[in-house]
This record gives sequence, structure tokens and C-alpha cells, in this order.
Amino acid sequence: MNAKLLSIIAIILWLATIAVAATFFVRGNTAQGTDGRTAIVLSGAERDMVLGEMRGLLSSVHDVLDGLNKNDMTQVAAAAARSGMGSAADVNPAMMAKLPLAFKSLGMSVHHDMDALAAAAKQNKSGAEIQGMLTDTLGKCLACHATWQLQTAN
Ligand code: HEC
Repeated sequence: MNAKLLSIIAIILWLATIAVAATFFVRGNTAQGTDGRTAIVLSGAERDMVLGEMRGLLSSVHDVLDGLNKNDMTQVAAAAARSGMGSAADVNPAMMAKLPLAFKSLGMSVHHDMDALAAAAKQNKSGAEIQGMLTDTLGKCLACHATWQLQTAN
């Protein structure tokens, strides 16, 4: 085997490694789900963490609506801010790698929406406008739930 052939093989292996890494980055750690959705496979503790974040989102939605009913914009802003980008900052890199790219961007966009909703409440935007923003965000919750489920590997 001459040096030229060896270097071509090395480059092909290098490209293959990058292709595998890129595919993993886009797809995350996924498998076929039990109900037609795609399953994201996490450890038990990671799944608990994601579900805990989800319950936080639901509680924010509840408290935003409750605040709107009472016309209490301070409560609306605080409830939304609780699920803003700040709440997503402490996710560990190993788990981030398991999440599909589209899942991460949809999740981040929901946290971003919550910050925007908090800002709108602070600026005293109308209840109708804030409700409209919340409805758009809930559409993202539905889209994600329709696409993915969580499974545990260990
Ligand atoms: C990026 C994807 C994504 C987004 C966005 C998303 N969720 Fe989820 N959520 C999931 C997945 C995946 C599950 C687990 C579903 C399963 O395994 O069947 C889940 C589960 C939940 C659960 C169940 C929690 C538990 O303890 O079992 C609640 C409640 C929930 N989500 C609320 C929300 C709300 C409210 C929003 C929007 C404000 C939202 N989610 C946005 C992906 C998402």
C-alpha cells in the first residue's frame, strides 16, 4: 500500500466519522416509538428531568391564565419568566447530545416565547394580545407532543 492510498483511506474514514457525528447531532438518540411517534431514548434521571421541566411549563401556563383572569400582569410576567430561557440553561451536554436538533430548537423557541410573554406583560400589553401569544406557544407544545415520546434505556 503506498502513501497516497493510505492518505485517501484516512480522509474517507475522517469524512465517515464526521458524517456519523453530524447524523447523531441531528437525530439525537432516537428509536421507533410505541405509538407512531419517534422515541427519544434517555436515562431514567434524564427523562425525569425533562418531564419535570414539562410540569414547570404546564404550571406556568396555568399561572399565566390565572393572572390574566385576575388582570394581574405582575403574576403573568413572573409565571412566564419562570419558564424562560433561564430555566433551560443548566442542561448537561451529554443529555443535550441525545436530544434531536428539531426537538432542541422547538424547546428553545418555547422558552424564548415565555420570555417574550413576560416582557409583554411588563409592558402592560392587552390581555387579548398576551392570550394570543400563549395560544401560539401552546401550538408548539402540541406539535412537539405529536412528534416525540420519551423512553428510558436504563
Ligand atoms: C420540544 C418538545 C416539547 C415541547 C415544546 C413541549 N413538550 Fe411537553 N413533553 C414532551 C415530551 C417528549 C413529553 C413526554 C411524552 C411521552 O413520553 O409520551 C412531554 C410531556 C409533557 C407533560 C407530562 C409530564 C409528566 O410528568 O408526565 C406535560 C404536562 C407537558 N409535556 C407539558 C408541556 C407544555 C404545557 C408545553 C408548552 C408550554 C410543552 N409540554 C412543550 C416534549 C415537549
